[in-house]
Amino acid sequence: MRKAIIAGNWKMNMTPEQAKTLVLELIPLVKDAQCDVVICPPFVDLAVVQPLLERTNIRLGAQNVHWEQKGAFTGEVSADMLKALGVMYAIIGHSERRQYFGETDEKVNKRTVAALAAGITPIVCVGETLEQREAGAAEKVVRAQTLALFKGIGAADAARVVVAYEPIWAIGTGKTATKEDANDTIAVIRGVIEEIYGKETAEKVRIQYGGSMNPKNASELMSMPQIDGGLIGGASLKAEDFARVVHY
Ligand code: PGA
Repeated sequence: MRKAIIAGNWKMNMTPEQAKTLVLELIPLVKDAQCDVVICPPFVDLAVVQPLLERTNIRLGAQNVHWEQKGAFTGEVSADMLKALGVMYAIIGHSERRQYFGETDEKVNKRTVAALAAGITPIVCVGETLEQREAGAAEKVVRAQTLALFKGIGAADAARVVVAYEPIWAIGTGKTATKEDANDTIAVIRGVIEEIYGKETAEKVRIQYGGSMNPKNASELMSMPQIDGGLIGGASLKAEDFARVVHY
């Protein structure tokens, strides 16, 4: 049995002061959660939020991680730096990074390897565009992204990866994939993992759905057998909404 994992992706929102307010509101609302609860604030908020999360069930995540340990990489943050701040998860390869910041499958793989090596759980995003879905290529795109992300990673490490299936046309648009489509595409992803590592590992990997998941649709999405959690953007910025997703 895979434990469900609900993660909030705050994106480029919340000053440190606003982050503090949101987290203090959230802590009591999710303290009885049955699933793993993760929040991923911007880098600048991590040091402020971390002490507030001690002795709570909320785990801290970042929104990216670099593959090198240190050096001349202006604007980047290493896995060891994040680890030192108490970060336990890192979102990697979000479609906004792929779309606006030149993220490639190769970089996504390198970041995933670095996170795993540092003991950080990667939440790696895959997903197709609307044009790709309409052209019937969703499966092919997601297959290729999944194969690429696991390149060179051993089975024990692979089992620790969280994959987030996020159809790009569903992100921030209010359009959610149907629960059947989400479930089917996640089954494809799990199938690829099984081809690489075998059934036992594939059954261990947690695969989230993301894209306009909210308090209204969370329970029906989470009722699907392949969907092990959610990566929540917009609805993670309000404590009450995020808590309602957590208690799907
Ligand atoms: P959304 O974002 O919930 O606002 O659609 C999800 C994501 O981009 O991770």
